[in-house]
Amino acid sequence: MWLPLFSLYILISLNSITSIGIGDLNVPPEHVTYVFNAFPSVADACLSDPQCSYKELAESKRCWGYEHNCNRDISYPVRPVCPGDHRGWVKTKEAQYDTFYTQADFGYVKEQIDDLMVMCEATYPDDTSLECSKYLRFCRGRNMMLNFTGLIGRGDNLRYKIDILGPGQIGGFCNFYSERLKKEADHMSALQSWAPELIHFVKTPQRPIPDGMCDIVIKKPTYIMKLDATVNMYHHFCDFFNLYASLHVNSTHPSTFSKDNHILVWETFTYESAFKETFKAFTDNPIWDLKTFRGKVVCFKNVVLPLLPRMIFGLFYNTPLVRFLL
Ligand SMILES: *[C@@H]1O[C@H](CO)[C@@H](O)[C@H](O)[C@H]1NC(C)=O
Ligand SMILES: *[C@@H]1O[C@H](CO)[C@@H](O)[C@H](O)[C@H]1NC(C)=O
Repeated sequence: MWLPLFSLYILISLNSITSIGIGDLNVPPEHVTYVFNAFPSVADACLSDPQCSYKELAESKRCWGYEHNCNRDISYPVRPVCPGDHRGWVKTKEAQYDTFYTQADFGYVKEQIDDLMVMCEATYPDDTSLECSKYLRFCRGRNMMLNFTGLIGRGDNLRYKIDILGPGQIGGFCNFYSERLKKEADHMSALQSWAPELIHFVKTPQRPIPDGMCDIVIKKPTYIMKLDATVNMYHHFCDFFNLYASLHVNSTHPSTFSKDNHILVWETFTYESAFKETFKAFTDNPIWDLKTFRGKVVCFKNVVLPLLPRMIFGLFYNTPLVRFLL
């Protein structure tokens, strides 16, 4: 009884990986070659599909820059021009380019990936898991419980709040390294890290989803976003830029750029912006806010807490660019 079920599951999951068509990738044609290189199964699927018009791209080797074995000469071609003297900041010309790469290019993504730490460790597939990069700037979790009962009676004007969750209102069933998490929780500010929320993480006595802790279970991958400001193009693109970079940080599967997901905005205001069309590049679904879940305990099967819009030495806002002295 057990074995046939198990092999059927493997068949289905293999099938769903290789059957991701080029159309489902949701990347512009000039990015297809990078996806092929990151996910050889997609390139193979193209080569064996008579309809696939990107066959020659499957031959060319290109990478974004953060992948294993991605040599700089085949990485995404941002070639900064850094004339003048590099002294004062770094010792060599080469170090000047390297610094630019980690401050403002895919090197930043690579650093986030390399920094990922397990904060709560799963033993079984239904367990919770939580991993975060340094200072809790990027996290991803599975089977996480978030308790929004505390939002009852707090109105529709919550924004930039660091007390949306209280003690024990976020958590899951896993081996929790609480000291490790606390050590990274220095950037205790709404738009700098996820510390204000994750500081309340607890190990729950039960597995959130199978043991029915939640009123609602969200199955599709969900990005929770703490927005900078939606009224101003520069500030709102701090949000979009960091969300895009976060897709790369979380990239382990050809569905990386899929729009079959949810975005939950961490405020009780209804999301509205002159730039709202930009979200259509990320999701096919309506944008949720915290009113959607007020009073409910919610489980997320897959959740990403993306890079934030105002991180110290972050991306787009507060980016220190290596300089030349004239
Ligand atoms: C959610 O939080 C409330 C307090 O606001 C508490 O009474 C309730 O037990 C919590 N539910 C779960 C599943 O943790
Ligand atoms: C993030 O990566 C995980 C692991 O590959 C994947 O399951 C999930 O769908 C991705 N996105 C989100 C929002 O969790």
